Amino acid sequence: MSNQVSTQKNYSALAQIYDDVMVEVDYETWTDYIDEIIYQYHPDAQSVLELACGTGTMALSLEELAAYEITATDGSPEMIDVAKQKAKSSYSDVQFLTRDFLNLQLDQNFDVVFMVFDSLNYLHSEENILKLHSEVRNVLNPGGLFIYDFTTPRNSRIAIKYLNNESRRINNLYRYRRKSTYNAKNREHTNRFEIEKLNSESGQVIERFQEEHCQHIYTLEEIESIIKKTEFSILNAFDGFALKQAHEKSLRITMVLQ
Ligand SMILES: C[S@@+](CC[C@H](N)C(=O)[O-])C[C@H]1O[C@@H](n2cnc3c(N)ncnc32)[C@H](O)[C@@H]1O
Repeated sequence: MSNQVSTQKNYSALAQIYDDVMVEVDYETWTDYIDEIIYQYHPDAQSVLELACGTGTMALSLEELAAYEITATDGSPEMIDVAKQKAKSSYSDVQFLTRDFLNLQLDQNFDVVFMVFDSLNYLHSEENILKLHSEVRNVLNPGGLFIYDFTTPRNSRIAIKYLNNESRRINNLYRYRRKSTYNAKNREHTNRFEIEKLNSESGQVIERFQEEHCQHIYTLEEIESIIKKTEFSILNAFDGFALKQAHEKSLRITMVLQ
């Protein structure tokens, strides 16, 4: 049994169990929501780029609608490896690439760029949020959309109550514990994952890993004021997964920019 804990880059050790950790997330409904937004604001859109696509669940689900040509990128090679394995076993045509969203380096333009599941909250400075918008601007076709969501301080205050100390065993192969903290003063939300790889027969711990993910939590006003400094205009700011206006109690806000 190993007592040594190795600290990993974000979304490297977690990649192997990410889909199990997210098992309760309804990606199909989320996909329909993004498709609905595209249909409302850019019904002719064909080429779509997903940023921070993780293990590709959403891109693969969007492909099932048979409406778009899809490229999907993520900064973590381990997450992209899992996405590619899933794409292979489902005979998917989605092109998965490892790319930092602050340095996209793509040789194609798109009608829509989208990014979900508070990936924006991984950016801790206005400078980096501006850089993201400028990278996306460079790969968008004229009239193209940039859609993304972020979580709010209210969400962190609530989520901390059920995410902290969540633990689960996955197929006798892994066990993980998530510890979450939220510092309301500097608005830093930290999720620390302690992952144990198990011997499937004896159940003994073979390896221990940990990852610490730190997100900065923004208000709508802050995001709007940053967007004002970009070339984008705001078509809408939606509440959660609905097509209605975000408000001061929104937990997740989806921005639709053009
Ligand atoms: C909460 S996960 C969301 C993944 C996926 N969108 C989903 O819904 O399951 C956040 C993702 O953002 C990615 N990410 C964080 N910073 C990034 C960056 N600078 N460039 C590209 N991807 C990044 C991580 O690798 C991770 O896959």
